[in-house]
Amino acid sequence: MALKDRLEEDRSSSERTGRNTVGHWRARLLEEINLDELAALSMTQRRARLEKVTGLLITREGPVLAAGERANLIRRVVDEALGLGVLEPLLADPSVTEIMVNGPDHVFVERAGRVQRLENGFASEDQLYQTIDRIVAQVNRRVDESSPMVDARLPTGERVNVIIPPLSLIGPILTIRRFPRAYTIEQLTAMGSMDPATGMLLASFVRARLNIVISGGTGTGKTTMLNALSAFVPEWERIVTIEDSAELQLKQEHVIPLESRPPNIEGKGQITIRDLVRNALRMRPDRIIVGEVRGGETLDMLQAMNTGHDGSLVTVHANSVEDTIYRLQTLASMSDVKLPFEAIRDQINSAVDVIVQLSRGPDGTRRITEVAVVASRNREAFALRSVMHFKSRPIGPDRVVRGDFQPHALPKDLANRLFHAGESMPPVFGVSDDPAEIREVS
Ligand SMILES: Nc1ncnc2c1ncn2[C@@H]1O[C@H](COP(=O)(O)OP(=O)(O)O)[C@@H](O)[C@H]1O
Ligand SMILES: [Mg+2]
Repeated sequence: MALKDRLEEDRSSSERTGRNTVGHWRARLLEEINLDELAALSMTQRRARLEKVTGLLITREGPVLAAGERANLIRRVVDEALGLGVLEPLLADPSVTEIMVNGPDHVFVERAGRVQRLENGFASEDQLYQTIDRIVAQVNRRVDESSPMVDARLPTGERVNVIIPPLSLIGPILTIRRFPRAYTIEQLTAMGSMDPATGMLLASFVRARLNIVISGGTGTGKTTMLNALSAFVPEWERIVTIEDSAELQLKQEHVIPLESRPPNIEGKGQITIRDLVRNALRMRPDRIIVGEVRGGETLDMLQAMNTGHDGSLVTVHANSVEDTIYRLQTLASMSDVKLPFEAIRDQINSAVDVIVQLSRGPDGTRRITEVAVVASRNREAFALRSVMHFKSRPIGPDRVVRGDFQPHALPKDLANRLFHAGESMPPVFGVSDDPAEIREVS
């Protein structure tokens, strides 16, 4: 049977299971819509768009219905996809970067890095549970006592985590991370996340095909930075992006976004980041961009960086540049290919050129706190050289973080690489091979 027919059959067998049910159409709707496109729309536009797509789907694939029945079905499908009660206005508000529900009465939102409590929560615990059910049903999951923790996604791409009693002691908890906005390097600079010289330096690193690891804690802006830096990959390169949930929004024409897949209810069909990295290597990529490495795929990534796939970009969860080195080592050792620790160290030394460290200050500002170059080679013990670091001044009573982005000299071999790639570097950095600049990582 032809592949296309098999895919058709998969689809039609699921269709036989209920073409009149709201759940079926909601699932079809979510397959059909482009989440990125939807995220850019206002709430009213979103509803109009979903209504239109649902209408088309029902016309194309559904039973013949009376006009009233049909309108009713469309409304219910869209309500199910969108109907999230008190969360609706928050989701429609682009200044809200995070929504945290700690039981029905305690709803918190984050705006501009600050967390505030809302006056109005959910009407009741029941209503909160209903909303939770709606959200997780969209990814064909269920929350109950046997699976009290679930990760889901809204139709707009936003990630949701749910944890309920008895694991949570204060009622059902819902945490929604907003779909990160695509900022440019100029915008991030204007927001104080870096200075213009650092922005220019990082852009030339990307164009010169350095392997860059972006590191930071949760919500420090790793994905946002990855997206901003990706903009400097030249238009003619073939880019493969790999993520758990597609957040990157690359503007280039030749981009192939891949997304991993969790196991289904029977625990089958999982496709990991690692599977996708391995597959990507067979796709003749010029660049591989991985949203976040969290496990054994780190080794595959390091190997890819060392075997001609330079210019790769990844993010990793770590709290300092030193920590990043250890984290990469630990993650790479989780691979089923067992390499001795020394071999992993050699891989990191050869693969990783630059680490960009992000942190979130006590005032909520997200910024680059350090840019470091891996100065060790092959068998040497890890060594780093800072090319920029943020030096903060003591915090005043207004709790606003102030400080300076301080440039340091670039190692000669790195300056040479930029030069040979036709890149100029901002003069504030300078070039030096002073051994005193090298920081051993022990
Ligand atoms: N430099 C920045 N300044 C202000 N807000 C930012 C910055 N970088 C990211 N954000 C916002 O912070 C939130 C988390 O960003 P994200 O890139 O998803 O973080 P991470 O990938 O580290 O978890 C998003 O809402 C994003 O829009
Ligand atoms: Mg992220």
